[in-house]
Amino acid sequence: MRNDVVAVASDHGGFEMKGEIVKFLEEQGCDVLDLGTDGPDSVDYPEFADAMAAAIRDGRCDRGVLFCGTGIGISMAANRHRHIRAANCRDVTEARLSRAHNNANVLALGGRTIGIEVAKDCVHVFLKTEFEGGRHARRVAKMSD
Ligand code: RB5
Repeated sequence: MRNDVVAVASDHGGFEMKGEIVKFLEEQGCDVLDLGTDGPDSVDYPEFADAMAAAIRDGRCDRGVLFCGTGIGISMAANRHRHIRAANCRDVTEARLSRAHNNANVLALGGRTIGIEVAKDCVHVFLKTEFEGGRHARRVAKMSD
């Protein structure tokens, strides 16, 4: 895995998984930018999706991982930002193809819907897979037109 800055953010539904993934990323030699939430109390996931979008827009990181209960709400909120391509993935194949075909810059995971080992595998594959470009570049560009 590259020694890049990887941002993470979650609501309360993804808080526990975020903590596990922070440890995993640090063990892999990544610098982690933790954008919160900082505890298990109930919070609103759009605020943390917005924090991730700001970190990527400001160049503090290139890629991030978002967590909520399902990964659905926080990915929807993140994708309201034009420069964000957030992929809510439930397995390694989706995580790989979200990078290879969609050039996803954010992975969204469900802290209540997938297991931690699957989550770690998804993060690992997401960070190591390069965008294939070619025909996929045209399609990805059309999302930002
Ligand atoms: C919070 O209870 C839950 O709704 C949230 O984490 C997420 O799953 C929404 O999509």
